[in-house]
Amino acid sequence: MKKMEIARTGDELRLHCDAWRDLGYTIALVPTMGALHEGHMKLVETAKRRADIVIVSIFVNPLQFGKGEDFDRYPRNEEADLEKLRAAKADLAWLPRAEELYPPGFCTTVHVEGPARAGLEDAHRPGHFDGVATVVAKLFIASGCHLAPFGEKDYQQLLVVRRMTRDLGLPVEIVPVPTVREESGLALSSRNAYLSPERRKTAALIYEELERAAKRLKQGVSAEAVAFDGRQALIDAGFEVDYFVVRNAETLRPVKDQRTEPLRILAAARLDGVRLIDNIPVA
Ligand code: PAF
Repeated sequence: MKKMEIARTGDELRLHCDAWRDLGYTIALVPTMGALHEGHMKLVETAKRRADIVIVSIFVNPLQFGKGEDFDRYPRNEEADLEKLRAAKADLAWLPRAEELYPPGFCTTVHVEGPARAGLEDAHRPGHFDGVATVVAKLFIASGCHLAPFGEKDYQQLLVVRRMTRDLGLPVEIVPVPTVREESGLALSSRNAYLSPERRKTAALIYEELERAAKRLKQGVSAEAVAFDGRQALIDAGFEVDYFVVRNAETLRPVKDQRTEPLRILAAARLDGVRLIDNIPVA
């Protein structure tokens, strides 16, 4: 069996990627921050189906965390992650150090407007999407990947990365991958590790409310009423709600005509200080 390569420096990564590209192989990059769960493995599976070579990066990106966020306590478990990637037959795990991606004096960032200014995650995590867009652009450029799967769970991130890729002319296809859920409906997230088993049950209510909202929208209830009721139901269940909204699925702008526009319902709420996000399409 072919052994999974590990690269820590940009030079090590380039050595492998140049050789693969010279052989005419297509390369998929799965960018992650580690603490890998089934949601990530679905991204790896998608990448394997779509490309000859699969690279998975693991990097807890300091640039996308705000002051007072969970950068220091974000779950890190390199050995367990590498085991999972070997089992999934990834070709290379890329574990860059912060100094590698952000050399001394680093002062260049990628700033995205449009979907990154929708008043959703951006309103609650200032600077977050500049951090994401910057690191993803760097990961794409360094690996020279042809495609990259992104989970729909971070729906705004998916749209921001797609916009950034188009605007910078990076030849990378962004492949959306549906959210993986626990049986309860709770969207898989590395941050679920912060929840007690009891709170995990409560957390599943977010998905329940999103589903209820989608059903009511399809019955013709107004987007405003659905959003208001969804927010209230989560508050009643003990959440602190950052947003519960119905938006245009392509632009993330507020809905003007709910009968004709593609719709997405997005929510972010905190439970015992743990911030959870989720969203679903209205199909
Ligand atoms: O979704 C994530 O885990 C991160 O935002 C990403 C895309 C790996 C960039 O650091």
